[in-house]
Amino acid sequence: MDVMEAIKGRRSIRQFTDEPIEKDKLERLLEAARWAPSGGNLQKWRFVVVTSASQRELVKKFAPGIFAVPTAFIVICAEVEADANEWKQRLYLADCSIASQNIMLAAYEMGIGTCVALSYAKSAISEILELPENVEPMLVVTLGYPAEDPQPPPRFELSEMAFEELYGEEWKP
Ligand SMILES: Cc1cc2nc3c(=O)[nH]c(=O)nc-3n(C[C@H](O)[C@H](O)[C@H](O)COP(=O)(O)O)c2cc1C
Repeated sequence: MDVMEAIKGRRSIRQFTDEPIEKDKLERLLEAARWAPSGGNLQKWRFVVVTSASQRELVKKFAPGIFAVPTAFIVICAEVEADANEWKQRLYLADCSIASQNIMLAAYEMGIGTCVALSYAKSAISEILELPENVEPMLVVTLGYPAEDPQPPPRFELSEMAFEELYGEEWKP
C-alpha cells in the first residue's frame, strides 16, 4: 500500500467485530512500533499487548474515552528515569506518539482498525498492567477488525495551518 494512501485512508475505528487479531499480526504491529524514530534513539518505549477478555474489560473500565471493548489494546508506555526532566517527558511522549502512528498505519494496511486514546486513569492502568514504578502509560491504542466504516472527519485547509518562512506568511503551493 502506498504510504500516502495509508495516511489518508486510516480512520479512528471505535466499533469492532469479535474476530480476534492473529498473534503474528500483533507481532507485526510491534515490529512497526520498534522501527519508529526515537529521540537520541533511546527507545524507552515499552508495549503491553492486552488480549484477554478480563484485562480488556478492566482497561476499558478506566478509559472513559474508549466507547466499546476492543479486541486488543496496545498500551504504549515509557520507561522513565527517576530524574527525568520536563524535556525528557516531552521526548517520551513524542516517541510514543510516533510509535503509535506506526502501529496504526501498519494496522490499517492489514485491515485492522485502531484508535488512539489519552483519556484513561493512569494510576488504574498502571495497577491493572502491573507496571513498575518507573514505567508510565503514555498512550493507549485500541485494535480490532472494523465493524464500522466512518467518513473522514474534515481537515482544515493547508492555508490555515502552513506558512512560508514566517508564521502568518501564506504557504504557496
Ligand atoms: C492524542 C489523541 C487522543 C485521542 N483520544 C481519543 C479518545 O480518547 N477517544 C476517541 O474515541 N478518539 C480519540 N482520538 C481520535 C481522534 O478523535 C481522531 O483521530 C480525530 O477525530 C480524527 O479522526 P481520524 O483519526 O479518523 O482521522 C484521539 C486522537 C489523538 C491523536
